[in-house]
Amino acid sequence: MDNRAKAKMGGGQKRIDAQHEKGKLTARERIDLLVDEGSFEETDMFVTHRCTNFGMDSKKSLGDGVVCGSATINGRLVFVYAQDFTVLGGSLSETMAKKICKIMDAALKVGAPVIGLNDSGGARIQEGVAALAGFAEIFQRNIMASGVIPQISAILGPCAGGAVYSPALTDFILMNRTNSYMFLTGPKVVKTVTYEEVDEEELGGAGVHSQKSGVAQFVSENEEDAMQTIRELLSYIPQNNREEAAIISCDDPVDRVADELNEIIPDDSNKAYDVKQIIFAIIDNGRFFEVHKDFAQNIIVGFARFNGRSVGIVANQPNKKGGSLDINASRKAARFVRFCDAFNIPIVTLVDVPGFLPGTAQEYGAVISHGAKLLYAYGEATVPKITIIMRKAYGGAYIVMSSKHLRGDVNFAWPSAEIAVMGPKGAVEILQSKKIAELTDEKEKAEFIANAETEYKDLFANPYDAAHFGYIDDVIEPRNTRYRIIRALESMANKRDQNPPRKHSNLPL
Ligand code: HXC
Repeated sequence: MDNRAKAKMGGGQKRIDAQHEKGKLTARERIDLLVDEGSFEETDMFVTHRCTNFGMDSKKSLGDGVVCGSATINGRLVFVYAQDFTVLGGSLSETMAKKICKIMDAALKVGAPVIGLNDSGGARIQEGVAALAGFAEIFQRNIMASGVIPQISAILGPCAGGAVYSPALTDFILMNRTNSYMFLTGPKVVKTVTYEEVDEEELGGAGVHSQKSGVAQFVSENEEDAMQTIRELLSYIPQNNREEAAIISCDDPVDRVADELNEIIPDDSNKAYDVKQIIFAIIDNGRFFEVHKDFAQNIIVGFARFNGRSVGIVANQPNKKGGSLDINASRKAARFVRFCDAFNIPIVTLVDVPGFLPGTAQEYGAVISHGAKLLYAYGEATVPKITIIMRKAYGGAYIVMSSKHLRGDVNFAWPSAEIAVMGPKGAVEILQSKKIAELTDEKEKAEFIANAETEYKDLFANPYDAAHFGYIDDVIEPRNTRYRIIRALESMANKRDQNPPRKHSNLPL
């Protein structure tokens, strides 16, 4: 067998069969699914490790456990590495790290995305510190590439210990529903230290990270789905921070009105509805690529297009926790807003927010700092920012959600908008507390409260007070929202804005 054929066999047929038996694909099969047919240019196929400890000199495989190279996805250049579990469990050696670093350096030089397909037992134990150093070299490159080129990680097998930090430093993490897990310390160590009994799935499976921790933005049902998701994600984002996402031709009429939007907001302002109906109605062809779908569902984020132009959408979701902002919603949206800003993707914000979620759990969990992240993210973003206030925009949450005061470029409101320091009930309780306490007759008290609430609503339960100040650029009919957003995006297409020079910001981490 020639060297090329040998390298392609990785750890050998037996181990390839074992990989398939687990329902997993091999590194090469994954790359084939991910990239355009015939586009893969492999590098370092003949590299071998240099370790001699523990008899390792007799355990060499060409390529040393990772397949690296460049390719195209829908005709666009990308760099890819795929760890090969059939070679020493895909464990990371000094030389494997060098191979990965080589393609990361190339990607950074030419400004192209890096996609990492992870399936590894972590640092190669036999190599000791040399393997740790290898991880560190990758982490350093992840950091340097952050905000310069998109970095996407797929977790298709184990990802344990410090190894999790490379994906964690990238922009997006996808985990496969089966066979993938991420944790800093495995079930055995957990049991020794905390006496907790937990299996791998429950500790760091796709369900945990997509719903509870928020570490993973995407879950795929199988590996084909994983590769398709990555291909689609890439279509919304540019090659690097100096470019803009491709504008694709659009057959959805720019001036399409969505009559149903005039009826979508319930008369009772405390009634919930699904904001996704609004998103689907206004974007091109109803195609919404949701990010972090299962995490912090009280806020929705994702990519869509308006007249072929890629945008990031952030929307409060009234049918989950009333659409309030809490710790996780703030973290989720802040990270998304910062990604969009780093890669020149305009942000469209749909607002219906009653405020921040109150309570000790939130306060003890530092909702102040996490909420500040979202505030900060919007305030520092220089991409075009278009905001639609659909209903509630109360208090700090009004300011946070891409308000005019945070350099919102075009801020519209629907006639149903309510922009105020707080809702009528809370406001009346505070403003009229003495008077309410004095009233002993229950009927009289109820009447007084109702009248006070009506007075408050007349003043603030509409967008005109804010519009008088110029904080709302226009009050628009809901059914025209698509058209108005497209015009706003077009008017802002050449926007240039800058933040003051500094070493870096100190956002509230
Ligand atoms: C060397 C490794 C290895 C490792 C697996 N192998 N992990 N070799 N270094 N880290 C080898 C196994 O010896 C075995 O070789 C082959 O890969 C397949 O492994 P199996 O155990 O047979 O497979 P499986 O049963 O599927 O279990 C997979 C696994 C398990 C869960 C990943 O291998 C495992 O727990 N590995 C250790 C994980 C770990 O703790 N890594 C260190 C994390 S700390 P043979 O020849 O027998 O087939 C870390 C620090 C990074 O990574 C720090 C960065 C700063």
